[in-house]
Amino acid sequence: MTGKVYLVGAGPGAPDLLTVRAARLLAEADIVFHDALVPEPIVALAARAEKVAVGKRCGRHSTAQRFINKRLADAARTHKVVVRLKGGDPLVFGRAQEEIAYLRSQDIRVEVVPGITAALAASASLGTSLTQRGIARSVAFVTPRVGAEEGPSRWLEAAMAADTVAIYMAAHEAPTIAAALIAAGKSAATPIAIAEGATLPAERTAHGTLGELPDLVRGATGPVVILVGEVYRALAETLVPAKVGIQAA
Ligand SMILES: C[S@@+](CC[C@H](N)C(=O)[O-])C[C@H]1O[C@@H](n2cnc3c(N)ncnc32)[C@H](O)[C@@H]1O
Repeated sequence: MTGKVYLVGAGPGAPDLLTVRAARLLAEADIVFHDALVPEPIVALAARAEKVAVGKRCGRHSTAQRFINKRLADAARTHKVVVRLKGGDPLVFGRAQEEIAYLRSQDIRVEVVPGITAALAASASLGTSLTQRGIARSVAFVTPRVGAEEGPSRWLEAAMAADTVAIYMAAHEAPTIAAALIAAGKSAATPIAIAEGATLPAERTAHGTLGELPDLVRGATGPVVILVGEVYRALAETLVPAKVGIQAA
């Protein structure tokens, strides 16, 4: 009898932002394959499981995807509960579809457990809604990053078409990102925000303008999501002294 593979979203980092289902499956797991971005306190919830790190961190060594696929299938032939633990949500920039397709081709049962994606965690940390009545009615999740055998990313078209943009895996090329958006027609004064390590103990948030993006992300060591759009204008306005009077009233 083969086991079942659960593609589980670990959320952005804080263990208490796991879903109840994710926590239950971790406790039941016989073996867990986890990405580098998943913090140790979450992996440790799989108390009785064998734990296998399979890399997957931007710009660093990672296990080849086809090797991960095969290891998942092999594990399902010898273990009942196999958890594939991915940062955030498995279905957002997580290469989950390749794992799902391979496991199905091997007649192995697979189930996805959603998690909180980085853009939503960052929005909560910033206290700023991605959508806002009269300001933002559309949101795009984009990444300029493409794999070795992929065609070019069409992230810029998507970013220009949406009111609010969440840019993943882009901090290391912030100057290029800002220049591309400005060249495509966004004002350098467009409000932006960033969150580094959202929900983790070392979380850092900052806000400014698109022209300031390279300065805002400089020196970042944790994962960063970049948020662009008019909804972030209010973050700058909260620093205007006149608003203090409103609080006091
Ligand atoms: C390979 S993608 C995985 C995204 C993940 N599946 C999700 O739904 O959040 C990794 C990127 O997600 C973003 N990210 C993940 N965790 C984050 C966090 N705690 N804070 C900010 N950005 C994060 C960063 O842009 C990072 O480069």
